[in-house]
Amino acid sequence: MRVTAWAPGRVNLIGDHTDYTGGMVLPMAIDLGTTVVGETGGDLVRLTSLAEPDPAVVPLDVVDPSLVQPPWARYVAGVVAEIRPRDGFEGEVHTTLPIGGGLSSSAALEVAVALALGFEGTPLELARLCRDAEQRSSGVPCGLMDQLASVAGVDGHALLIDCFELSVVAIPFPPDLEVRVIDSGQTRTLASSAYAQRRAECSAAEEVVGPLRLLADASAVSVIADPVARRRARHVITENQRVRDACSALRAGDPEKFGSLMLESHASLKDDFEVSTPVLDDLVERLVGIPGVFGARLTGAGFGGCVVALTRPGALDEGIAVKPSAGARRDLPTRE
Ligand code: GLA
Repeated sequence: MRVTAWAPGRVNLIGDHTDYTGGMVLPMAIDLGTTVVGETGGDLVRLTSLAEPDPAVVPLDVVDPSLVQPPWARYVAGVVAEIRPRDGFEGEVHTTLPIGGGLSSSAALEVAVALALGFEGTPLELARLCRDAEQRSSGVPCGLMDQLASVAGVDGHALLIDCFELSVVAIPFPPDLEVRVIDSGQTRTLASSAYAQRRAECSAAEEVVGPLRLLADASAVSVIADPVARRRARHVITENQRVRDACSALRAGDPEKFGSLMLESHASLKDDFEVSTPVLDDLVERLVGIPGVFGARLTGAGFGGCVVALTRPGALDEGIAVKPSAGARRDLPTRE
């Protein structure tokens, strides 16, 4: 049976390092993504990619996806290990996403592969399965945001996600605003160990003050004795509120307010969460000095990667303009 599956990448407008404590995020699925096309059958999953010299060849009983070569095949293997499909698959991967460029190319690959392999279940189950695949393949204890945004995208809308309730509310994105993603050119080194460390620091803070998602007032962190855990907690609490405020600004058609919240988010990720870099800081500072740019911030995990900017259309000519788009889908052959 011939199958075509497509999954978009995502950009996170605001709300970083909040998903894994059940906090608030505001990503959108974008109009760049990954297609998997091929035929079901055989006893291997074999995919070629125009973007990669070597194919992914994964046995259906793959044991440890993190050891598979070449590295891009680990994400395919992670999905195979989660789904354990009865039949193999032979096909091709095409992507319009920059690989490893901070737009969740790995989440898009996982979701497209899962759909191509015949995943059956709810959108939330699909996102969770792909998140588990990502964790198995990369060893990074990531949250659910990237995979859920790819699955649940709505054309023309950003997605307000409560990562505890797992509710997704589509917020209309004003057509007279532009979102641009600018790659800092800085590849993310040490990201996986530092990410795990940040997660552990948030857990340490929660041992003292309870779930961070339930705290509205950042002064609650003053009882945390460890200064590092205290700063991490302050970021999470204030970032959750910024997401809610940014959502109100979007609904009220107030891009200036949205932009200033982006800048506050960047400052908090830099000073309290310590996931920025001088390259990202300089880029944000330069971009917000350009007329027509309402705000900019690092987006995603940090430690390099991308900056997202909210602008008047045409204000920036660097980076790529991305549009809020529909989520992943699978097309099966229609019978005559
Ligand atoms: C990565 C993870 C997400 C999220 C972001 C930071 O993209 O995959 O789950 O934690 O970092 O917001």
